[in-house]
Amino acid sequence: MQNIEKAILELKKDNVIAIPTETVYGLAANALRENAVKKIFELKKRPSYNPLIVHIGSLKELQGIAREIPEKAYKLAHQFWPGPLTLVLKKGNSVAPAVTAGLDTVAVRVPNHPLTLELLGKLDFPLAAPSANPFGFISPSKAEHVLSFFGDKLNVILDGGECEKGIESTIIGFDENEDPVLYRHGSIPVEAVEAIIGKVKFNTCHETKPNSPGMLSKHYSPIAESYLTTDVKQMTEKFKGKKIGLLLFKEKITDLPHLDQEVLSSTGDFNEAARNLYSAMHRLDAGNPDVIIFEKLPEKDLGVAINDKLKRAARK
Ligand code: TXA
Ligand code: MG
Repeated sequence: MQNIEKAILELKKDNVIAIPTETVYGLAANALRENAVKKIFELKKRPSYNPLIVHIGSLKELQGIAREIPEKAYKLAHQFWPGPLTLVLKKGNSVAPAVTAGLDTVAVRVPNHPLTLELLGKLDFPLAAPSANPFGFISPSKAEHVLSFFGDKLNVILDGGECEKGIESTIIGFDENEDPVLYRHGSIPVEAVEAIIGKVKFNTCHETKPNSPGMLSKHYSPIAESYLTTDVKQMTEKFKGKKIGLLLFKEKITDLPHLDQEVLSSTGDFNEAARNLYSAMHRLDAGNPDVIIFEKLPEKDLGVAINDKLKRAARK
């Protein structure tokens, strides 16, 4: 039985389940229970310094989770929640310490998926949830991806179909002057955030102790060796004799018919490309190529976030 009632029972036992969101699937547990949250870290083999996002059912539930909330945070929440925007705010008292990895801030969002909103509405606690992939692997945009990663370890995987957005939420925090800072590129382009609250600064990335491990350079890696380039054809020549997979933006390369090729959007639509990104990566990787070559997208709109994911997945 893969239904909400069963999900609630599991969560009340401090167990981990998989939930759909509009971005990617998550591994969820009671965010107020240290014991439950630790199980997420174990299952995901995630380093304990890498904090999780708290998922709530509505803006009203922010009380207790965060404090001293900047006006600009409210503006963003009103505009984008439920939706793929995560806010990093000063931490309230109720959240289990493991969720925030000891930081004084907490990441929080209201996900926009009917099944998960229904689940949150029936719970009296919020859900801590990272993406439902083992640390360093491709994020899951379908229930079957979660099943292949964790099938034997989860009692409930709520199947909400294919994720509508397909890439993770955009993460925005605030500096000591309450000026907005981008922690991670995601489903909402930075321009859309800036249209609401003005200029957003970019967080500088530190490889070893990042402010937001979304910034860790190999976080989205598929298993195969992979490369990001604007000139896919030229790059294939470097790997003659190897089994090559291609991840392309708009069209296949017709004079390379023998290669495994995935196209993200034949009309060049960024939303469609984002929605197809992780499924295409999973399919390419399942073919066990020696090398995967990613085509760089135009650096505008959601292309920026997709390129960012590809850059992190590429080994070089
Ligand atoms: O779309 C999403 O955000 C998905 C779905 C499941 O909601 N979740 C997700 O979680 O991508 P995860 O754990 O894969 O990524 C969470 C990101 C990490 O990069 C983490 O470092 C950052 O959020 N984060 C969490 N708490 C933070 C904090 N207090 N300060 C800065 N970054 C934080
Ligand atoms: Mg993740």
